[in-house]
Amino acid sequence: QTKLVEITDIEKQKAILEEAGQIIRDGGLVVFPTETVYGIGANGLDADACRSIYVAKGRPSDNPLILTVPDEEGARQAAAVIPPTAQKLMDRFWPGPLTIVLPRKPIVPDAATGGLDTVALRCPDHDICRAFLRCAGVPVAGPSANLSTRPSPTTAEEVMHDMDGRVDMVIDGGPCHIGVESTIVECNGDDGVTILRPGGVTVEMLQEVVPHVQLDTTLVTGKGVPKAPGMKYRHYAPSAPMTVVVGPVDKVTEKLQALYDQAKGEGKTVGFLVSEEVGASFPHKDMYIWGRHGDKEALANQLYTGLLSFDSDQVDIILAEGIDDEGLGLAIMNRMKKAAGGHVVIVG
Ligand code: TXA
Ligand code: MG
Repeated sequence: QTKLVEITDIEKQKAILEEAGQIIRDGGLVVFPTETVYGIGANGLDADACRSIYVAKGRPSDNPLILTVPDEEGARQAAAVIPPTAQKLMDRFWPGPLTIVLPRKPIVPDAATGGLDTVALRCPDHDICRAFLRCAGVPVAGPSANLSTRPSPTTAEEVMHDMDGRVDMVIDGGPCHIGVESTIVECNGDDGVTILRPGGVTVEMLQEVVPHVQLDTTLVTGKGVPKAPGMKYRHYAPSAPMTVVVGPVDKVTEKLQALYDQAKGEGKTVGFLVSEEVGASFPHKDMYIWGRHGDKEALANQLYTGLLSFDSDQVDIILAEGIDDEGLGLAIMNRMKKAAGGHVVIVG
């Protein structure tokens, strides 16, 4: 039985957050909101509790978990050292959508790190989340609260679809503001970081703090073994096959029209995940409008909800409009490419 609670006032509803913290210390599972996507939480220092996350998600257990903490103090519970570069990143971006990979302390179990000698640490920019983490008093292992391979949930309703009956409590804190997962980095010496997963903190933002920002080569080439083990899995994926088209409004519309005509010829139903401007050319279709053409914040925010809506509608194929790679676009296109199994077409 999953208890669903809506938190609107942290002070007045403190007792519920205390109860959630107690569930964590007792080895149970609590889903919590963050600014990126919802997370499924367990005591990150308790191997059995961590293992129950893998069961709830149906996730391969070699894929390590992020430990979620309310502040830098929390990070010190799990990290053996915080090198100067990591300190700079925390000072600038915490709380916020940046996860930092650091050497782990021995108290962090293999069940949390998938046997790695490092631990990924994240401090979300979300008041309800951090109040809950303070009540828990331990680092909370917190992967996204979806069944493995499904798109991550950004509302409590989407969480319940996947997790009802699989967790003890779901904290509803409203829709997530950003909509794609945090950026994951590892530090290279005194002046560099490698991005293992692009996210809410962009390359451009990181460059303001560290001179050398590079991408894990598998992100660039699509080949080899990614340093964030989770990046190798089919992921963020809707049930239907998907094609993403990127370019100016007229060219995207032209290409989508051709793909639509072809699908219709094969008797298939089509879902559109497009901007207002492109959507105007396809009236009366199964349509999910993500915002104005080129608006990255809007697309990040609506991407997973749009993909999940097509799972409910059971369309045969999805035709989506993507965005350029600059800024938040890098994270969005990373997720879209995975959701589309690499079917991305650039036009114009
Ligand atoms: O925004 C987020 O980060 C969300 C919210 C809920 O906080 N969480 C999230 O967790 O996306 P998850 O488990 O879905 O993704 C964690 C990623 C995986 O790709 C995993 O392989 C990688 O982080 N990871 C975890 N620990 C790592 C480590 N020690 N070294 C490298 N990659 C690691
Ligand atoms: Mg995930």
